[in-house]
Amino acid sequence: MLELRDVHKNLGGETVLNGLDLKVERGETMVIIGRSGSGKSVTLKHMVGLMLPDSGRVTVDGVEVNTLDKDGIFKLRRKFGFLFQFGALINWLSVYDNVALPLREHTTMGPDEIDSVVQGKLRMLDMAEHSRKMPADISGGMKKRAGLARAVVLDPEIILYDEPTSGLDPVLASRTNQLIIDIREELGVTSVVVTHDMVSAYKVADRIAMLYGGRIVQTGTPDEIRSSDDPVVRQFIEGRMEGPME
Ligand SMILES: Nc1ncnc2c1ncn2[C@@H]1O[C@H](COP(=O)(O)OP(=O)(O)O)[C@@H](O)[C@H]1O
Ligand SMILES: [Mg+2]
Repeated sequence: MLELRDVHKNLGGETVLNGLDLKVERGETMVIIGRSGSGKSVTLKHMVGLMLPDSGRVTVDGVEVNTLDKDGIFKLRRKFGFLFQFGALINWLSVYDNVALPLREHTTMGPDEIDSVVQGKLRMLDMAEHSRKMPADISGGMKKRAGLARAVVLDPEIILYDEPTSGLDPVLASRTNQLIIDIREELGVTSVVVTHDMVSAYKVADRIAMLYGGRIVQTGTPDEIRSSDDPVVRQFIEGRMEGPME
């Protein structure tokens, strides 16, 4: 359903993606692991057309993203929910209004219909009683949940999670992992999760892909990755200082 083929991307004079191949099947949860700065966020941005490849192809449901005009990109984005790395709630809007925003921008729903959808998502994420609060007045975990409610409010087919557990304590990180699993079951979505948190990767993934040197060096089930004999993968999952990675 989502495929990157031989994608190359230079940014700021540096080769970030260097022939990246990745295929995500409908309904699966694909976790992309890799070090900070390895190009995980850049990879996600290619999936939604926020960045275009210098060469190579990105296809979503058989549609080639790099051939779309502005209108086409706008339509493509509706298929996606995006949980940004740094939450990205709008500070001057309440939790409720943050979650309602995509509905107001992308649909012709009236206030009653919007209200019922927003309340439903807030309930699902255990945020109903905080709906009137401002982002500055809620905890980090609540911000993630509000961001998630907003990411799923348009009932996306694909959800992209950029470092969903970073900056969370272990308890909140486990809850977030469980939410990713619950959302997948409840909404039947395809999920792509970018992380360097191996606990999270093993917990939520159907398959894990390791990004290194601008390419995917190995893709496999959590068990296959755990028993990988690729030296780059081993160094990463064991968090060792010595190895092929600098
Ligand atoms: N818009 C941009 N302009 C220039 N360089 C960028 C841009 N976005 C990302 N980069 C660079 O690309 C590399 C990969 O970034 P990123 O995908 O954010 O890494 P991560 O794996 O930590 O998410 C980094 O070296 C980063 O500095
Ligand atoms: Mg990133």
